[in-house]
Parts: sequence; structure tokens; C-alpha cells
Amino acid sequence: MTDEFVLDTPTVRAFVVRVQTTIADASSPQEACEAIRPGFAELLADAHWLPAEYREPAPESGMGGGIGQWLLYRTGDGSLSLFSLVVPAGAETPIHDHLAWGLVGLYRGTQDEEVYVPRDGALELVERRSLRAGDFYALIPPRDDIHRVRTTSAETSVSIHLLTNDTGCVWRHAFDPESGEARPFRSGYVNVACADELD
Ligand SMILES: [Fe+2]
Repeated sequence: MTDEFVLDTPTVRAFVVRVQTTIADASSPQEACEAIRPGFAELLADAHWLPAEYREPAPESGMGGGIGQWLLYRTGDGSLSLFSLVVPAGAETPIHDHLAWGLVGLYRGTQDEEVYVPRDGALELVERRSLRAGDFYALIPPRDDIHRVRTTSAETSVSIHLLTNDTGCVWRHAFDPESGEARPFRSGYVNVACADELD
């Protein structure tokens, strides 16, 4: 299993090397996220590194709503992935979890985010936040792991995710907004298959 640079550019390679070194040296996810922040902010501020094809929605996507999840990089062992999530104007993700820590930030457009916490078998909405391009946050489960995002801009929103699993290929959960009931959920990626889909 080897690392997969789907978007193989000096910018992505330099970012990944920096992240890998940081994670290896950090004593906790909190410390790693803190140390990765400057490099992640640079990526969000750089208008040129992400080609147009990774900013496109995907009509047949696993997320629904035309939402495209494009893999940019992942490790062979499933311990890290970098991907863009493209949400058309007015579309929203299901309420979902990630099951891994990392950083999520907005690259283009604006989004509203709703954060939920499971409580007494139901989901409680605990936070609403609005994100603009350049805004980002650390996601360290169980805190902030369950959310839903909706694009509020007229243009398609593009967010960049750096998470410590192969997020598109792991089985995680989507939640019913009314009952809070969880169902198995795998979003997949638009542009690459998951290992067991190739068998
Ligand atoms: Fe998410």
C-alpha cells in the first residue's frame, strides 16, 4: 500500500510532508492541529493550487445533493486523507460524523454549519456557525464530530478537509434529523474507488 497523490503537485507534496512530520512529532491531536494551522491557513489562502476539476459538484455522489467529495491525497494505510468537498448553492450534507480528528476549512463560497451532540438517543443542536473562505476549525472527536453543512452562497462552496482516516472509504454514520437514529454511511470519493470496491 503506497501513498496516493491524486493531485500530485509541489504544493500538495510540501503540505503533506509538513503535516506528516508534525503528526509524528506531536504528543496529541490537539498539539498536532495547533501546529498544522499555519500551513492549513496558507493552503486556504492560496488561490492557485486547487485545479478547477476538484471544485466541481458531482450529480451522482454518495453524499446526495450533487455534493462532490474529491480525493487529493491519502496514505496507503488509511491514516490520513486530504480532500475537497464541493456543495452546490442551497444544497446540504446529511447530518454525519467523521470518526477522525483533523482540520476542516472553507476555500470558496460561504456555508452554515450545525453541530450536534447525541443526547438521550436523540441529537441536540449545540452550535450554529457561519463560515467564509479562509475560516477553518479543528475537529477532534467526540467534540464537533457530528454536523451538517449547507452552502449559503450563490456560488458552489468548496471546503478542504485534512482528516486522520480515509474519510471517503470508512463506514461512518449519517443521522436522521428527527429521531437522531444513526445509519451506516459511506460517502465514497467521486474520483477514486475504495479498496473493497476494486475486489
Ligand atoms: Fe463533515
